[in-house]
Amino acid sequence: MLVCQCNVITDREIIRVIRDLLAADPWQIIVPAKVYRELEKRCKCSGCVPNVVDLITTVTHEYHLEIADSSAEVKAPPVVSPPRRKFKGAGHERRSTSYRTA
Ligand code: FES
Repeated sequence: MLVCQCNVITDREIIRVIRDLLAADPWQIIVPAKVYRELEKRCKCSGCVPNVVDLITTVTHEYHLEIADSSAEVKAPPVVSPPRRKFKGAGHERRSTSYRTA
């Protein structure tokens, strides 16, 4: 299906570019400008941008489902301990004990 009439770009070309970008980095944010840059085209009237955004979201979602299914082991998220309380009462604010203001 022809997505961009100005540059004559089909949905297959856009999907291929999106999947190539996701193969390089699965968690990168893909925007239509990045797709056009990979295709070495320029967006002219922007009439196709909503369709390109739909393709990006659909293909990215499918790609993430694929890599989630293909990963054999599921790693548990790291346990993060709560931060320690650093302030235990009024400190000396890095002043020496002989320091007096008045
Ligand atoms: S339809 Fe894609 S730039 Fe015009």
